[in-house]
This record gives sequence, structure tokens and C-alpha cells, in this order.
Amino acid sequence: MVKYPAGTLLLTLKIEKGPGKTVSSQLQLALREMILSGRLEPGGRLPSSRTLARELGVSRTTVIDVYERLTAEGLITSKVGAGSFVSTAIGQDLPEEVEGPIEEEDEEPRHTPTLSRALVKASALISERLPHRNRCFTTALPAFDAFPMALWSRLMAKHWRSGRDIVMGYGDPLGYWPLRRAIAAHLRANRGISCEAEQIFVLCGAQEAFQLIGSLFIDPGDKVWFENPGAIGARNSLLASGAELVPLPIDRDGMVIDEGQRLAPDFRLAFVTPMHQQPLGVTMSLKRRFALLRAAERAGAFIVEDDYDGEFYYGKRPLPTLKSIDTKGCVIYVGTFSKTLFPAMRLGYLLAPEPLVGIFEKVVRSYLHGVASNPQVVLADFIEQGHFATHVRRMRKIYAERHQALLSAARKRLDGLLEVVPTSSGLHTIGHLPPGLCEAAVSEAAAEREITAAPIGAFSLTPLDQQGLVLGFSGTPPRDIRAGIDVLGEALESVGSGDAAEARKRAAV
Ligand SMILES: Cc1ncc(COP(=O)(O)O)c(C=O)c1O
Repeated sequence: MVKYPAGTLLLTLKIEKGPGKTVSSQLQLALREMILSGRLEPGGRLPSSRTLARELGVSRTTVIDVYERLTAEGLITSKVGAGSFVSTAIGQDLPEEVEGPIEEEDEEPRHTPTLSRALVKASALISERLPHRNRCFTTALPAFDAFPMALWSRLMAKHWRSGRDIVMGYGDPLGYWPLRRAIAAHLRANRGISCEAEQIFVLCGAQEAFQLIGSLFIDPGDKVWFENPGAIGARNSLLASGAELVPLPIDRDGMVIDEGQRLAPDFRLAFVTPMHQQPLGVTMSLKRRFALLRAAERAGAFIVEDDYDGEFYYGKRPLPTLKSIDTKGCVIYVGTFSKTLFPAMRLGYLLAPEPLVGIFEKVVRSYLHGVASNPQVVLADFIEQGHFATHVRRMRKIYAERHQALLSAARKRLDGLLEVVPTSSGLHTIGHLPPGLCEAAVSEAAAEREITAAPIGAFSLTPLDQQGLVLGFSGTPPRDIRAGIDVLGEALESVGSGDAAEARKRAAV
């Protein structure tokens, strides 16, 4: 084989410009092919990046970038001040003759990634979660403006100054023990749940709990009772595990258990948000809670109780959690700090009924690595020193004010356009649209005006009779809520007049 000094050969390279392959990928492929085929002499000097760039009419940055990539592949070596050379190791590793040119790499990956059959089937029903843009009426956002930043920073700084093992080590995959202890104590004192720290598993949010539960307890085709409309994230996780969701309607007492008994008495799991139904805001009545527990006992099913915003109630104390009246160990209780504190912390937890503690422990210890230690240690202090309880009490007042601001502004401005329903707990409520107003169109008109008005249908697996909007109030101060209601009024009017114009056009035809 004829071996060429690099300078002569490289300058004969042809680089095509225009759409298709990038200049850098052409140059990289050509150089690699020349080196591996042995046409460029091992140990030979390559032209300087400046010379090659000038001769080929490409940018010097491109050449430098390609040289760096080939260096990373071990095909080129660089000596400071001396330049770049074809690696001498190449000749030793290569056979005498390399037949034919090295095939160009496809721009696209050659194999099409295939998903599991369960996921392919589920994809038809899986829908994206709603965006969490921090603007008026976005749901699920706590009041960032009222968070005690200075206190949190102090606690954080204290930990960074002490025990490096705690803030830098792997930590216990089940969760930082003082935090598990603090959460259990909080649940006993505030949610009426009798539990021990060993039953608490710290996870990166409630969403991880849903994913874990789906992967551990659901076989493809297992029936899962699911509130309809209901929580989008939990729904997606369960669908992805292969669950066959049984959408159950919600009435003023919560999920309609009789319908579940009729459609799927042999259900494997039920998912509920009893304290503040997501998204309708209904509180599940005590009678329904007992009916659900009895149904689960009969079917040998588990119930996932998602208590995502139940700490915030306005007025009288709320009903007991489902977990607190679960005498047979059917309920897996899931909590999150995304609403009580802030979502960027990515901390939530799962309270396992006693018979499941061993299973969760084994799984988490064997193939999950747990959650970042830093927020856990700070949060443990925050709860143990009483700041959490104080914060929740304070936020309850702030959210009650924001809720009132929403109701009174809506009463004044949205009469006949949207009937906003008062809620007794949580961080959002809903509004019913009058007949003929399309929720998706209103939501779009609101987004154009930089406010959020999520359509209830986005939470639903099947078409709903009633059109309405989900309105978050927790993340926005009262003055901005009042301004937002004016903007929502304009959005509703614009859609209303659009619909009326459309109807007039149709009538004229
Ligand atoms: C119904 C419901 N549960 C739980 C969560 C909290 O999820 P995470 O703890 O993963 O932030 C949310 C968040 O919006 C939610 O809507």
C-alpha cells in the first residue's frame, strides 16, 4: 500500500457544503478512513489546523474540533508546540491490508429503537403532563414568594460546614434516617396515621412512588381503578407498567365505587386523591372511603392514596386520611414536599403497609440509589425544629386569602362566563363553563394572553359531559390574581364572541 505524507493527501480532500452532511462529520469520516486504511502514515505529521482549514476552505474551529474528536478516539496524538500526528499505535493494531474503504456512518442511527410491547400499547393513552410555567392560575405551584429562603439557606450552610460523609456520601438508599423518623412523626401528629419510620421510603417526588408501585405490583392487563378525570402523571406511570385503567366517574362523594364493582370487581389496584380530588377538588366522603377499603379487601387489591395537597384546608379540619382508617394494610400512602415546600427539591415519600416493607426495602436497596442527601438533611432539620409545621400553618392562611381573592374577583368579573367553585382544601379549584363555550379554545385564548387555564378534559381518559377549567391560585399573590381574572375574562369573551360569530355564519348559510 502506498503511504502518503499527510500534507499532500489531506489537501486533496473534497468537502461538500450545503444541506445534508455537516462539514465536520465529512472531515472526521475522511480522516478516520485514511488513518485506519493506513494511507496516512503512522507517526506522520498532520497539517496544522490553520493550514488545513485554509486549504479546504472550512473554519479553523471545525478542524480543531475534528482533531480533538480523533484524538479522543486514539487515532491522533498531539504534542504541545510540535503539532498533531497520526498515532503510531495504529500501524501495530491494523492488519497489513484493510480491504475497501471504511463505510461512512449513517447520519441516522442504524437500528430503530423498539419499545416494550406494554409501552407501545400504553403510548396511545399516555399524554404529556401539563407545563408548570410560573404564571397566573398554573396549578400545582406553591407560593415561592412566601418561602423562608434565609432560614433554609442557614440550615443548608450549617450542613455544608459539618459532616462531609452525610452531605457527600451515597447515603442510605431508603432515605436519610432522621428524615424518615421526622416524616413518620409528622404523619402521626398531623395526618392521624399510626406508622413507624421503617415504613417510610424517601423518593424523588410522588411521581417516583407511582412509577415504583406500577413496576412492582402491576402485570400487563391488570385492572386499575382510576379517577376520571384524574392525575395525569400517576395515570401515565400506571399505563406504562401495562395497567388496564378502569376510568371511574367522580360525584360529590368522590370516586364512584359501585361503578368500579360493576366494571372490574377483580381490580388489582385503585388510585385515589381522597383529600382533594385531582383535578375536580371533591373530598371523598367517609362512606365512600369505607366502601373503597371494603372493595379492596374483597379483591385483595392495594389502594394508592395520593395526599399531594391535603395539608392545606380552609375552615374545618378535614376528614381522616384513608390510610388512618385502613385496618387491613391495603393502603400505600404517598406524600410529597412539592406542594408543602417547593418542587425543585424533588422529595416525596411512600408509606408502605407493614407486609410490603420488606419488598420495598429489597427493591430500593438492590437497584435504586435513593435521593440526593443534601435536601434530605436540611429537610430533616426543618421538620424536627418545628419550621415545617409553622410554614404549613402560615401557608394555609396565605392560600386561604388567595382562594378568596380568586372567588371574589371571579364573582365580580366572570358572571355568566365562568362559575368558579369554592374548594375546602388544596391549591387549585375548577370553574364550570356555560354550555357552548369550548374549554380547549378558552385555554388557548388564555395562553395567548400569558395566563394558564387548563381544560379539565386534559385530565380525562374519556370525554366528559361538562366543560371547565382548572385554576391554580396558590402561586399567585392576590393583586395578580385580580389582574389575571380580568385577563381570563377577556379570553372568555373573545372565545364567546368567536363562537357566536361562527354560529351566525352557520345560520346565514
Ligand atoms: C395529583 C398529584 N400528585 C402528586 C404530585 C406531586 O408530584 P411530585 O412529588 O413528583 O412533584 C402532583 C404534582 O403536580 C400531582 O398533581
